[in-house]
Amino acid sequence: MTAQHESTGPLTTEAGAPVADNQNSQTAGVGGPVLVQDQLLLEKLAHFNRERIPERVVHARGAGAYGTFTVTADVTPYTRAKFLSEIGKETEVFLRFSTVAGNLGAADAVRDPRGFALKFYTEEGNYDLVGNNTPVFFIKDAIKFPDFIHTQKRDPYTGSQEADNVWDFWGLSPESTHQVTWLFGDRGIPASYRHMNGYGSHTFQWTNEAGEAFWVKYHFKTDQGIRTLAQDEADLLAGKDPDSHQRDLREAIERGEYPTWTVQVQIMPAAEAATYRFNPFDLTKVWPHADYPPIEIGKLELNRNPENIFAEVEQSIFSPHHFVPGIGPSPDKMLQGRLFAYGDAHRYRVGINGDHLPVNRPRATEARSHGRDGAMYDGRHGGAKNYEPNSFGGPTETGRALWEPQPVSGVTGDHVAPSHAEDDDFVQAGNLYRLMSEDEKSRLIDNLAGFISKVSRDDIAQRAIENFRKADEDYGKRLEAAVAALRG
Ligand code: HEM
Repeated sequence: MTAQHESTGPLTTEAGAPVADNQNSQTAGVGGPVLVQDQLLLEKLAHFNRERIPERVVHARGAGAYGTFTVTADVTPYTRAKFLSEIGKETEVFLRFSTVAGNLGAADAVRDPRGFALKFYTEEGNYDLVGNNTPVFFIKDAIKFPDFIHTQKRDPYTGSQEADNVWDFWGLSPESTHQVTWLFGDRGIPASYRHMNGYGSHTFQWTNEAGEAFWVKYHFKTDQGIRTLAQDEADLLAGKDPDSHQRDLREAIERGEYPTWTVQVQIMPAAEAATYRFNPFDLTKVWPHADYPPIEIGKLELNRNPENIFAEVEQSIFSPHHFVPGIGPSPDKMLQGRLFAYGDAHRYRVGINGDHLPVNRPRATEARSHGRDGAMYDGRHGGAKNYEPNSFGGPTETGRALWEPQPVSGVTGDHVAPSHAEDDDFVQAGNLYRLMSEDEKSRLIDNLAGFISKVSRDDIAQRAIENFRKADEDYGKRLEAAVAALRG
């Protein structure tokens, strides 16, 4: 616990003056009205009114822990990132897990993707990998994200999540069929944050010392084993113990049962991207393992709970644009949108100096920018010059880009992402369905039908079902029958 908890000194005001009475406010005589001179009362009420910051617009509900990433393979042929430069090298990390649609106080045991946001405190600055527990996503262009999330959140009129909105959007966005199949399958409700995988989801660029570029996808395979909840188990648990995931993570770490993940990457030489059978930058697709086998590169362990949830979890900020030398973005249109969205959200939610908070600031190096001032600036730069170039010394640019430039062609415009030989919106959804056992298929159909049957309009339900039929005839037929049975 903190020094304040152990302290025996007097209680004080925020300004440090001793407090005489913390139980009774000052009044004009016994039984009279309260006095404005009672600054302790005013300070307490005013401070209390400002205890909240805006919750995250998505992924508001979450839990985090610190830990260590250890390199277990030589990846120097692919990336010059220093934290990946030697087998056995350790880097401190902070990982925040989350659900997506629920508000800050929502229950954990729900059908929803889980966030898997990982901050590596490297010696070349913080590297953030802001992924999910799903290898793919619902949409493939950032311009659709606000609309998509509106359908997952509360309807402006009813104030609740509405099946109509969810299925209307998914039905009209056939590229969501793969992720929706994933989400309504067994893995759609993890038993805990410890018992699920994490994925970087997007394709990222790695570049080595010689400047050669590779495309990579990250996988974090849980060493605890995958465990999931059936819909009825989850419904019960969500009511009985809304904090089930958060508590499970904290208590496991308190018991010294540190959860671990085996870290793997799929690596594609940059030259292969143009002719790969799928667009390798399409977030609604995986790279089949037969094409690019995952290679083990490290171990992730979580071993320390945050001491103060607000300071370390609520105020933590993860940005897909936090890269380090040797790692960069791909042209994935979703990722490109995210490169803007997170920093912007952080400036609104936590403030312009949010990077200075202990959980967010680099730990293995120092931030040396010419950014200054703003709300809650702590004066860390002292009297140093606040511009560059200057004639007084201080930090200077390196002249070397963090990642390699990529060739582009054509003219500017609202372009659909390129389609490769085997790209369509259904092929991988169908493959996933056909991989499932008969039991898995029937649970998938039940889960989907349970939700689609709540849609109020037949055309919306029917359009949604047609997407699954396009993925696999049997899938569509069974779903249609199950929905019809429930709708009566
Ligand atoms: C263009 C699409 C997307 C946009 C515009 C977007 C935007 C956002 C925003 C604004 C936040 C809140 C950030 C904050 O207040 O700190 C957030 C959180 C998050 N997003 Fe996204 N998002 C997108 C897609 C994705 C995808 C594809 C993934 C996973 C692969 C993802 C994973 C996360 C995670 C894990 C968090 C929580 C981070 C934390 O724990 O603080 N998002 N997103």
